[in-house]
Amino acid sequence: MTNRAVITGTGAFLPRKVVTNRDLEAEIDTTDEWIRTRTGIRQRYIAGDDEPNSYLAVNASRRAMEMAGVNPSELDMIIVGTLTPDMPMPSVACLVQKELGAKKAGAFDLSATCSGFLYGLSIADKFVRDNGRMKVLVIGSEVLSRRVNWQDRTTCVLFGDGAGAAVITGTREKRGILSTHLHADGSLWEFLAIRGLGTAQPVTQDVLDKGWQYIEMSGRDVFKNAVRALESVTLEALEANHWTADDLDLLICHQANMRILDHLRERLGLAQEKVFINIDKYGNTSAASIPIALDEANRAGMLNPGMKVLMIAFGGGFTWGAVALEW
Ligand code: UT7
Repeated sequence: MTNRAVITGTGAFLPRKVVTNRDLEAEIDTTDEWIRTRTGIRQRYIAGDDEPNSYLAVNASRRAMEMAGVNPSELDMIIVGTLTPDMPMPSVACLVQKELGAKKAGAFDLSATCSGFLYGLSIADKFVRDNGRMKVLVIGSEVLSRRVNWQDRTTCVLFGDGAGAAVITGTREKRGILSTHLHADGSLWEFLAIRGLGTAQPVTQDVLDKGWQYIEMSGRDVFKNAVRALESVTLEALEANHWTADDLDLLICHQANMRILDHLRERLGLAQEKVFINIDKYGNTSAASIPIALDEANRAGMLNPGMKVLMIAFGGGFTWGAVALEW
């Protein structure tokens, strides 16, 4: 009998401060109407100085562990998908390990932008299939507000901060994670990037003057590639599980743009209630977006045993992927 990986607990945590579209109208040349109609976003959460990435991650994790009934001392591995760590070293995962007191857990961050949670879930799936007794904490956590140029209206209205987490453990039952599908195309990296503050373009006045410490995005190119990749990885996951789109009970997509979600829903012929949407409340929280959505769906009672769930993501790199599971 093979082991399968199941999600036994989910949690999310948002910073205190809410910034509405109206708040942004007062700061930059934009309108609530433009942001809502082009993206579906109404507000986003922005972390304060006392709410670094690891703080959000720890709090989301505590909620997920409480639901799973798992103590920190039982955790074997902590994986954090993020592109906005507290610092280059140590990883957010090590800071979370320390704060939780998860003494026996290994800990590492992974860099797969908005697909980070699904990449992490895929790795957790492999650990647990290999050893069904393992308990893995997978987190997506971001403080993107520190990496957007608040003078650039084409990007700053889109992003938000937050964290989501899930506890993964083993089962001998025929449910849980059924298939994982990970992809990337590094040749298109320039469409969505933060060029500076790494080792290629370290902190110099020149780099700061160019604004390379901030997210740069060619919105239309990202949009075009996102809809194409998300549709193709959805079809790939459906085929791998011999599902049709009709079989799906819930599609949890990375929340980047309402129009992307609408496009997918139409292409797949899915009913409105089968596509989870919360972009209006949080904006694009990158790696945190799917685990926040998963937790919200879970706590709202939208996930029942036996339901067929597909999670899909797309982000900078480009990276994209899907995880299909039976709840
Ligand atoms: O998480 C990773 C995945 N990320 C994504 O999937 C993002 C994908 N891209 C998008 O969601 C969309 O491309 C955006 C929402 C970023 C932009 O929407 P768009 O329909 O592609 O708009 P655009 O960039 O073509 O800009 C249209 C107009 C421009 O004005 P002109 O040149 O037509 O006069 C912009 O200057 O809208 C203007 N504009 C704004 N106006 C008011 C751009 N940003 C704003 C703004 N407020 N915040």
